[in-house]
Amino acid sequence: MENGIKIVTIGGGSSYTPEFVEGLIKRYDELPVRELWLVDIEAGKEKLDIVGSLARRMVKKAGLPMEIHLTTDRREALRGADFVTTQMRVGQLKARIQDERLPIKYGMIGQETNGAGGLFKGMRTIPVLLEISEDMPELCPDAWLINFTNPAGMVTEALLRYGSHPKVVGVCNLPINTKMTLARLLGVEVERLEIDFAGLNHMVYGLDVRVDGESVLNEVLDIMSDPEKQVSMKNIAPLPWEPGFIKSLGIIPCPYHRYFYKTGDILEKQLEEFKTGTTRAEVVQQLENELFELYKDEHLAVKPPQLEERGGAYYSDAACNLISSIYNDRGDIQTLNVRNDGALSDLPRESAVEVNCVVTKAGPKPVPVGELPVSVSGLVQQIKSFERVAAEASVTGSYEKALLAMTINPLVTSDVKAKQLLDEMLEAHKEYLPQFDGELTHR
Ligand code: G6P
Repeated sequence: MENGIKIVTIGGGSSYTPEFVEGLIKRYDELPVRELWLVDIEAGKEKLDIVGSLARRMVKKAGLPMEIHLTTDRREALRGADFVTTQMRVGQLKARIQDERLPIKYGMIGQETNGAGGLFKGMRTIPVLLEISEDMPELCPDAWLINFTNPAGMVTEALLRYGSHPKVVGVCNLPINTKMTLARLLGVEVERLEIDFAGLNHMVYGLDVRVDGESVLNEVLDIMSDPEKQVSMKNIAPLPWEPGFIKSLGIIPCPYHRYFYKTGDILEKQLEEFKTGTTRAEVVQQLENELFELYKDEHLAVKPPQLEERGGAYYSDAACNLISSIYNDRGDIQTLNVRNDGALSDLPRESAVEVNCVVTKAGPKPVPVGELPVSVSGLVQQIKSFERVAAEASVTGSYEKALLAMTINPLVTSDVKAKQLLDEMLEAHKEYLPQFDGELTHR
């Protein structure tokens, strides 16, 4: 890395890429990136060219000597990389629309990272991530694999259990977004705020919150109970929490907990969206079309503000902060998906957890937490069981495991419907599930 850093971004044609490029430009003094390789598949080539040209204009405008390489040859790109980031969507948004619409058809929550949709997004994605992890020891043995691809918890679990490359971290924008929102609601600068996050990806709780080292947990619980001050993300309706529930829970739920504690209310909303063709995936498809029209403009050389309408806004802060802290051996605290190693005593040591970590050049080390409160440990363990069985189904292509994963997910409400939904989703996504080829006939 003496001559500058080489970063490889797989899924480089994503509409989110300009945000990542902006993050790298902002941090160039502390993180001198020499080469950014944007990699995509043949089907994503047009998007890659559009995004790549914008990235080049952004770097030129900033007057930085950062080379932007565009390629569909993943192995060529990986050679000699220092950091590999992954942000792909296998099957593109068309597949996400199915992940969200098909469960609703069966009267269940449709969501791309949990429930039936999360299982299928995981089964399409995990084999591809494992191939990358297999290439890395040969082509870039020292590089960190930094995954943002959802479902990030299940994907990190699979990479830790079945991958060939041990330097793996899962990243999500949720902790950073929560911190930014709470800092704004508390009226303090974000640097003064610390949150003790612990749990799993999209299933993480804030166990305590401090401003300048003093706990403000009760104040935050009051904020969370105020219907006018909801903490959410662009992709999740900010349905207000029942104040009595928040007070008795006594810790901070994340926006995704609404799917588990407000299942009926969200389902009602989703049934409406299903009828009007306005599920989140369909809204995002529209937004993406608009973004790509903007990106094509040869005069555009910055990230357009419309990108902040996406749920993943600020993911680049999470990614760039991590890369910078490893590169600069900073030793700061970041919330990441890593091997538990005993930090959360309710969960297996070898499983992926989302937890605060100290980040140095040796990578992230989880800060020990101990036991989770009894009120939440059961749900967290249940989701971890789901992720493990889902990861196993993704790797083995076993129909039985897929059915088991589907049925034990708390958002799947009937074993009989689970099987029907599984069959319909396997058929809908078969192009992207080669590991199930032989299994589809045994049903
Ligand atoms: C949240 C999550 C991300 C997810 C995104 C979806 O921010 O933390 O993991 O990718 O929402 O947003 P979208 O705009 O695609 O619905």
